[in-house]
Amino acid sequence: MQREATLTARPSALAGTAMLSGILEGMSARMSSPVLVGRGDHMGVLEAALDRARAGGPSAVLIGGEAGIGKSRLVNEFTAAAAEAGARVLVGGCLDLGTEGVPFAPFAAMLRGLVRELGADGVAALLPAPGAREFARLLPEFGEAGIEANATVARARLFEQMLTLLERLAEAGPVMAVIEDAHWADRSTRELTAFLIRSQQILDGVMIIVSYRSDDLHRTHPLRPLLAELDRLAWVERMELPRLGRLHADELVARITGREPEPWLADEVYRHAEGNPLFIEELLSSDGGLGAELSESLRDLLLAAVRQLPEQTQELLRAASAGGQRSGHALLAAVTGPAGDDLAHGLRPAVAANVLVPDDGGYAFRHALIREAVYDDLLPGERTRLHTRFAQILGSEPGMVAPGRGVIEQAHHWYHAHDIPWALVSAWQAAEVAGQALAHAEQLTLLARVLELWDKVPDAANRIGASHLRVLEQAATAAHAADEYERGIAFASAALKEADPAAEPVRVALLLEKRAMLGKHGGVDPTADLRAALELVPAGLDDAARARVLVSEAKSLDSPCGPEARLAAEEALTLARQAGDVGTQAAAVGELAMIESFSGDDAAALRMFAQASALARQAGAYRSLLFVAVNESHVLGGLGEHERAAHVARTGIASAHEYGLARSTGTFLAINVAEPLVALGRWDEATDVIEQALALSPPRVNRAGLRLLAAAIALCRGDLADSRALIATARTALGRVSFLHSDTQFYLPLAQLEAEQCLSEGRQADALDVVTAAVDRFDLLRDPRYGWPLLTTGARVCTTLPAAALRDRGTAERAGVLLGQLRTLAAKMDVSGPVRQASRLTFAAEAGAGPPNTSAAEETLARWDAAAATWDRVAQPYQLATATLRSAEAAMAAGDREGAAQRLRRAADLADQLGARLLSKEIAVLARNARLALGTDHDAGPAPRRLGLTAREFEVLSLVTAGRSNPEIGAELFISAKTASVHVSSILAKLGVSSRGEAAAAAHRLHLFDPAPAA
Ligand SMILES: Nc1ncnc2c1ncn2[C@@H]1O[C@H](COP(=O)(O)OP(=O)(O)O)[C@@H](O)[C@H]1O
Ligand SMILES: [Mg+2]
Repeated sequence: MQREATLTARPSALAGTAMLSGILEGMSARMSSPVLVGRGDHMGVLEAALDRARAGGPSAVLIGGEAGIGKSRLVNEFTAAAAEAGARVLVGGCLDLGTEGVPFAPFAAMLRGLVRELGADGVAALLPAPGAREFARLLPEFGEAGIEANATVARARLFEQMLTLLERLAEAGPVMAVIEDAHWADRSTRELTAFLIRSQQILDGVMIIVSYRSDDLHRTHPLRPLLAELDRLAWVERMELPRLGRLHADELVARITGREPEPWLADEVYRHAEGNPLFIEELLSSDGGLGAELSESLRDLLLAAVRQLPEQTQELLRAASAGGQRSGHALLAAVTGPAGDDLAHGLRPAVAANVLVPDDGGYAFRHALIREAVYDDLLPGERTRLHTRFAQILGSEPGMVAPGRGVIEQAHHWYHAHDIPWALVSAWQAAEVAGQALAHAEQLTLLARVLELWDKVPDAANRIGASHLRVLEQAATAAHAADEYERGIAFASAALKEADPAAEPVRVALLLEKRAMLGKHGGVDPTADLRAALELVPAGLDDAARARVLVSEAKSLDSPCGPEARLAAEEALTLARQAGDVGTQAAAVGELAMIESFSGDDAAALRMFAQASALARQAGAYRSLLFVAVNESHVLGGLGEHERAAHVARTGIASAHEYGLARSTGTFLAINVAEPLVALGRWDEATDVIEQALALSPPRVNRAGLRLLAAAIALCRGDLADSRALIATARTALGRVSFLHSDTQFYLPLAQLEAEQCLSEGRQADALDVVTAAVDRFDLLRDPRYGWPLLTTGARVCTTLPAAALRDRGTAERAGVLLGQLRTLAAKMDVSGPVRQASRLTFAAEAGAGPPNTSAAEETLARWDAAAATWDRVAQPYQLATATLRSAEAAMAAGDREGAAQRLRRAADLADQLGARLLSKEIAVLARNARLALGTDHDAGPAPRRLGLTAREFEVLSLVTAGRSNPEIGAELFISAKTASVHVSSILAKLGVSSRGEAAAAAHRLHLFDPAPAA
């Protein structure tokens, strides 16, 4: 996508814990989501395990995860569905009753459930004589427990009886036994559980599920060795439920509240809850906003582990909580007193209890909310004292934190220590450091703080050596750099009130230009400001300033390729050259390149982009550099140069990070990385890019663009519930951005996806409405890039109306009219470049279908083959697979069975490789109906899931097995080293191993990457 446009409205007072403090108590009526979000993969593992049990094999799944991550919910949803399908479900939970709870508690609960249904006699009748006697130890309903002199023998009998019971129950159909919260299991429960799982080899039709809190499993926890042992059994799968990624966390918020969350709300929730569903629920109040305070129950949950620590350790944790999410060892030592080993010693219990996680030279709280809960517990005086201490120590030893951070963190602590003069001075100094480090958002926060404190410090200007106007100007500039448009406009307007155009015309002109550009992005018409600015800097006064205003003028004109824009950009280029202002030259050349592209000459545009980026690099003009990255990748993508497009955008993201624009321009560039990856069928990679970008809390428009791509992936994969939700949220997000109403780069893909979604759900008439509305509302011819896909989808909608819809005269007529319109548009639409060619051929094949006679069928076949060949050329496998399927249909219609079978096999291979499930299904149906063989692989159905690993994790594991490091894996798979490490952790958890070496060994043992035997 091009023309980055962003709106960020975030209520500024909503920062951190302040928001969570101060209201309603006991508001524990937590709302939850009506649907399970983001656990498709894990459901898949459970389903596969149940299938194995159904087929008579042994099968058990061990599910770990932190408290609230959704273990019970996942299991409940799964067992409910299985029960619906006729399975018998026995559930029992372990209770938190100290180390040795009630013996066999979960099994007693299972029996109780069974007795409720069958009666005690009914249960006993299932067992051979002497019936259910041993169960009397667990449940009084079974009578008096017999006295058995030998405890070991009694135990063995009980175990056998439980096994027999499951065996008998399974004779009637699949049985699921669920043992929840096994971290609380007493020894007897652990032993019986292990016995049953080990015995599964002789136990047909039973699936056992064990859940446990992995964060509770400290090093010496007795469940640990047991899990490790069980995991070695071939039929046992172990999986770790991870926190939800940003995409699903946002979806969960929307599901809980029943509406698309405001971006700031989504950000706040994600920042605090970090993707833990329970925490997400807890943070949301009953009106769908942000709860005022951590609820008592959540606080108890968070602090449970903390409260069990020695007092000295708790004291240290309190100090650490004032230092932030993470504290360095040396700093913490200086603040708290005990140094070196003493500190480590004092904190060891917190590490053992999983409250703190040690990292390079410091400690981080395991979850942000734990820190928050500890911090909230501090008394006000204690807080002031701690922050003062942090500030003083950082004042004398700034090197205690990362380079460049000392001044900034010091400012933070002075502010929270309520020392106003120091807070002001240190904020100003820190703002300068942040500005130099291109940390614009931080710089903006600090400058806003200077302005906030200004009136409370009588000689503020003297203390910092700068005027109020100067601070306002800098704040406007920082806001622009940070893409905080509304705040920037406010600062620029305030500055304009204080500045004098007669005395300083250039200064005022540049302020007006700044406000204009902020306004352009923020949805305010920039024309008046630019006109006023141009009058203040007539030719001859200040060439560099005039050139800058002219570039902005060229960017802002209504008709982007009209003569006025070209004139303005050309004058700007001449003036900037004269003034030796290389940065503005770069901007002017970039603008001229876009004008070429709009006028249809992409080759010229690409040449000029190269010039512009060389100039920008020379001048260190990073805005222009990123502008080029956005537009060059867009143009390349349009030309079908997907690899290059992704590469250019990816390089742009790296620069955006360097320039402190990761959240804004960086996330827009992520759209331009993901878009070609989606086209290339590299959906896992695209998803990684999207997730990473969403985790940065992008502005609304960027978020919408990213969601549209995620929706496209979900749709292609056949995850219709996901795609439906994503499309809905993207639509809402776009609808709120008023100035975008005509922005076809968002609306045309949205309409196309909506229509595809309707088609996939069999709602043909709705699809017809969607396409008709889009064609009426937008000028598709102005945007062939996104116009073509809508045309092809529209043609499909019109030509595949089912008989029932066609019987309705109105619908049939509307389809006829629409198809006519689409044909007219297609005839006029630009077809330069192979992607548009491929679309045109697809459209011709789709829309040109004649009556079903043989010669027409042959023509259709030729058209689909041509379309497929072109999609092949631009390496778009999903479109290729679809076109190949259609050509197979056409071959059938033309009576060429062998040709049809060949094409169908190709389509099946492509669809399976992609994981395009609906397409695979459609192919399989055609094959079955036409009695065409697809080859053993496909006829056997989808490949079994591999140990619960996703396709991406499987790739990562293969590299781990080859001995690659995280950065190397990152480089190879085009993901960050951090993402690679997240995948690796998840793999280790799923494989139940604790090191990469063990993971590699497991992969070897399981022959995961052995070369396939020659066919
Ligand atoms: N994937 C999910 N989608 C929707 N809601 C979820 C999901 N996972 C958990 N929840 C909700 O979060 C809360 C905590 O989940 P729960 O299953 O009780 O966690 P755990 O058993 O891991 O401690 C519950 O209210 C549950 O309904
Ligand atoms: Mg639970």
